[in-house]
Amino acid sequence: MTSTLLHADLLILGGTVLTPNGAERIDIACQSGRIVALGDLRGRWTADATLDAAGLHVLPGVIDSQVHFREPGLTHKETLEAGTRGAVLGGVTSVFEMPNTQPLTLSAEDLQAKLDRAAGRAWCDYAFYIGGSGVNAEHLPMLENLPGCAGVKVFMGSSFGDLLADDETVLRRIVRNGRRRMAVHAEDEARLRARRALVEASVNVIQHPHWRDVKSALMATRRIVEMAAESGRRLHILHVSTGEEMAYLAQHKHRVSVEVTPHHLTLSAPECYERLGTLAQMNPPVREQYHQDALWQAIQEGVVDVIGSDHAPHTRAEKAKPYPDSPSGMTGVQTLLPILLDHLHHGRLSLHRLVDLTSAGPARVFGIQGKGRIALGFDADLTLVDLHAQRTITNHWIASVSGWTPYDGKRVTGWPIHTVVRGQLAVRDEAMAGQPCGQPIVFF
Ligand code: DOR
Repeated sequence: MTSTLLHADLLILGGTVLTPNGAERIDIACQSGRIVALGDLRGRWTADATLDAAGLHVLPGVIDSQVHFREPGLTHKETLEAGTRGAVLGGVTSVFEMPNTQPLTLSAEDLQAKLDRAAGRAWCDYAFYIGGSGVNAEHLPMLENLPGCAGVKVFMGSSFGDLLADDETVLRRIVRNGRRRMAVHAEDEARLRARRALVEASVNVIQHPHWRDVKSALMATRRIVEMAAESGRRLHILHVSTGEEMAYLAQHKHRVSVEVTPHHLTLSAPECYERLGTLAQMNPPVREQYHQDALWQAIQEGVVDVIGSDHAPHTRAEKAKPYPDSPSGMTGVQTLLPILLDHLHHGRLSLHRLVDLTSAGPARVFGIQGKGRIALGFDADLTLVDLHAQRTITNHWIASVSGWTPYDGKRVTGWPIHTVVRGQLAVRDEAMAGQPCGQPIVFF
């Protein structure tokens, strides 16, 4: 008896595939952007393209739910094209982009302008946050449900750009208008203003975590969690940087999801400021080892849902301004996975937990349709990594317009080799392939 051969766009053969069942040595068939078969497919399927994944691990495509790609208005720092190119080179297949561009993303027109700019230029899938502010609070229930919108983002403390919602009444209007999980930058603006004089006098970036101290972060986190409890609003606290917040957030997990960033898990004060100067300047700040240890413990204990990069590029000339005039922010979308794979190599987290934090977690927390796991019918977003490959991260490798990374010169073990976005190879053998094929992400 002869069996009919089935045909796919792409076959991925012989990899160790991270499915909801665990790590399985299986093949994957991708057709029209989706996963259509899993199992032993050799001899049963043909394909237009085949990828030999022997010796590689196949992860669900990494979803980075916090990046700043600066377009429109600040394209001397970053663009949607370069930002998403860096994303796929680093194994990221989806991004959520932040609203502190120029203009800010506050209206349906602002959102549409970003979607128009991304079409045909983005190398990975994308969604855009709407900024929550006094000027659009009553429109947020409509805005947050527009196609391509990742939800509402609120800055409680000023960081970079003009988006700020620190006033009690404005904040309450924002929290009460809308139902989706709301992403929050939690630093207390009044306390930051009161303490700013401390750094004006010292003019040393080593003081950055002292100015934007633990209490500034904890006060804002408590305030927004308490306010959200009044109306039952779900929250996502971005880039949590202190052990104190983690202890508090562990008591509010039924409503609040938690993000940490690779830089808060990897760098520590004062060493990073001594070595990198203002390149290590970030809001909220990179803090002492005690806090880094507490963030790792929160990963271990399940308090953390998501790792996002907070990719926030500024040019080297801007970063070279004397502190505190130097802007806060560093690149991160391209190094998120290499840095985490290196932590995996050093035993700080398991591969299953890495997958949970970088794909399953964001998909669960934000209600992303058809992404976040390798399963039949899901989008064929796949990140193929070599857990043993050793590479040196360099500025030269960074695709960002800003052209630098705080990890320049760092030797890591574990590296993304191929990146597949909805069945199309965006990166093959560590080099760009194909055409930008990114689409807006769809939410439940
Ligand atoms: O350091 C930061 N820079 N933190 C933020 O939250 C914003 C970001 C930026 O946009 O530069």
